[in-house]
Amino acid sequence: MQEANRMKRLPLYLFTIIDHLKEEARQKGIDIVDLGMGNPDQPTPKHIVDELCRQAKHTENHRYPRPNEPAEMKLKEAIANWYKDRFNVDLDPKSEVLPLIGSKEGVAHLSLAFLNHDDMALVPSPAYPVHFNGVIMAGGILYNIPMTEENNFIPDLRSINNSVLKMSKLLFLSYPHNPTTSVVDLGFYQDVARWAKAKDIIIASDLAYSDIVFDGYKAPSILQVKGMKEKTIEFHTLSKSYNMPGWRIGYAVGNKDILASLAKTKSYIDFGIFRPIQYAAVKALSGSQDCVKRLVGMYKNRRDVFVDGLNSIGWKVPRPKATFYVWARIPLKYDALTSMEFAELLVNEVGVVVAPGTGFGEYGEGYVRFALVEPEEKLKTAVERIKKLLAMKS
Ligand SMILES: Cc1ncc(COP(=O)(O)O)c(C=O)c1O
Repeated sequence: MQEANRMKRLPLYLFTIIDHLKEEARQKGIDIVDLGMGNPDQPTPKHIVDELCRQAKHTENHRYPRPNEPAEMKLKEAIANWYKDRFNVDLDPKSEVLPLIGSKEGVAHLSLAFLNHDDMALVPSPAYPVHFNGVIMAGGILYNIPMTEENNFIPDLRSINNSVLKMSKLLFLSYPHNPTTSVVDLGFYQDVARWAKAKDIIIASDLAYSDIVFDGYKAPSILQVKGMKEKTIEFHTLSKSYNMPGWRIGYAVGNKDILASLAKTKSYIDFGIFRPIQYAAVKALSGSQDCVKRLVGMYKNRRDVFVDGLNSIGWKVPRPKATFYVWARIPLKYDALTSMEFAELLVNEVGVVVAPGTGFGEYGEGYVRFALVEPEEKLKTAVERIKKLLAMKS
């Protein structure tokens, strides 16, 4: 059996790499601290789970959901209200909001909706993998925009030459950034708006971590920039802010024509979101946001424990202003290793699972990403174990 060529063109998938690392360690009987996947470890808040249970008992909620039926309209209104509260951005719930079965599928299907085989998508690298894998699966041409520590992991859009721009249909942006934890202010989006003027390029902003922010930093939305709704789609998710990764619920907002094309693509593929999950998401977005505040406090403590720990053992890493990741350059002692080799060493020698930088694309090489999805005690254990590794004779 021969897979389609587009499947063969896909790089090895990050989470497959991480699962493989873990499996190998388990088979050798190694006790692991798993900081590999960005999979939130805390339970979904009770009021959200209660609403799911309540709604699941209504048998009419067991049918296929349909677009713009009451459950979906309630959810769209809750999303629009959340955007108004959080960013002071006005959205028409009916046409400028689209619920998704998690933002990942939305990002992948956006490429399917818009890319022909000779269309390019501009993807800053490193990136959350679906940003580039979606392009490859859709059969489009991937153009990596290199991002480096020297430019704070911000893409230099003006360095892209005109022949590439002429072929480009999509630009992906995502701040606060996974995996690098880099953040931007509204000025960055104003600059993107100036660059995008008179260009026929759809801007896809992935705002998954807008709520996981520290030290007074506030993450802006690109839709706060006047006029950007004309060419922008912005993705968001309930997975991180409300600990709902397994529920599969996210959404897109922005330009109504872009959203209509994405909705059309999806209508041929899926049937939408189980109604009780939609009602529970309404509770999450419109209920008290204290649970988000508590979560951010927890991630901040974890960040401080882990960053202070690594710095104290001589592995200098920056203190992220957002996300629950730490993006770390491979220590000098091991910098002859690829990120994959270093990740293997970490798991085999001391049982610490991390994501190798190359899993996030070409420009992730030289780094590893730690996901702070284990309690503080485990993070301290990880630091102790890494200390041993760094002290070993190589
Ligand atoms: C930047 C980014 N976008 C999207 C997602 C996927 O979110 P969802 O659970 O809504 O599919 C993730 C998950 O880690 C992410 O880091």
